[in-house]
Amino acid sequence: MHHFLKETDFTPEQAQHVFLLAKQFKDDRLNCPQTLKKQSWGLLFYKSSTRTRISFEVGVNELGGFPIVLDSQNTQIGRGETIADTAKVMSQYLHGLVIRTYGHEIVEEFAKHATMPIVNGLTDLNHPCQLYTDIFTLLERYSPEAMDINTLKGKKVVFLGDCASNMANSWIHSAAMFGMEITLAGPEGFAPTHEIDAVLEADGLAKQYVFTTDAKSATEGADVLCTDVWVSMGDEAEAVKRKSAMTPYQVNGDLLALAKSDAYFLHCLPAHAGEEVSQEVLDSPQSIIFDEAENRLHAQKAIMAKLVELNS
Ligand code: CP
Ligand code: NVA
Repeated sequence: MHHFLKETDFTPEQAQHVFLLAKQFKDDRLNCPQTLKKQSWGLLFYKSSTRTRISFEVGVNELGGFPIVLDSQNTQIGRGETIADTAKVMSQYLHGLVIRTYGHEIVEEFAKHATMPIVNGLTDLNHPCQLYTDIFTLLERYSPEAMDINTLKGKKVVFLGDCASNMANSWIHSAAMFGMEITLAGPEGFAPTHEIDAVLEADGLAKQYVFTTDAKSATEGADVLCTDVWVSMGDEAEAVKRKSAMTPYQVNGDLLALAKSDAYFLHCLPAHAGEEVSQEVLDSPQSIIFDEAENRLHAQKAIMAKLVELNS
């Protein structure tokens, strides 16, 4: 069974096809193939969501399928039914399952026992659907017709803030996969951890990211600037400490001015204006955050369609 738990669960060639499919879906949104016809897909949330939930629910519907939104508390998972049993039972009703949860081992355990494709809708480790969307959003600028992933090679990505977060990990992983340079800038104590190094090693990808505490030097010459919330879901108890440590890493007009003049600003959203990013940057012409949000729909439809193809 082919699942999508991390960026490298598709080869670069398969990812290229996903981006082309996503473009096709975006170009003619309501005339897409009915790839999920007569299928029912579960969307299981252990954490809050706006974009992931709505874009998958709409996406399954547009591909001809029936989406069922579930949460961990109102299923027997919340009362201790094992993941193994839950995955086996859900596989008897559903044709695919998107999961947003805490520990990455939870999606891995579902994938181990499910006989349907599992899609990672965010874990504490990574957010691969978001990264495929972000890459697609960049390809719309760099290679709008061919969506050629080779145009990403050598682009300089700079990630600021919580460099140990799921979004930072996914940027590191995607940069290694698609040949982008990546520098991460954040406070000591929030550097990339051994977890992402182990993921790169397991995939045979070089550990070529750079971490620095100097936001300004990191940002000079950037093609893409990105950040994420300073307090991720599950980190609320550390909110005060995190906000204080990360204040120097806010993406504001002064920092954006150090990047290339045609650099793009990305943020997976939700944003906290005045914390990790200024309102000025969110509103600037270099910000492509709302294209990025829209593209969740098109990219995820393509991910689901690709999984159906690979599993048939
Ligand atoms: N970017 C993202 O995953 O948004 P949601 O938390 O709203 O799903
Ligand atoms: N890092 C954030 C991403 C939200 C989409 C979180 O995990 O809360």
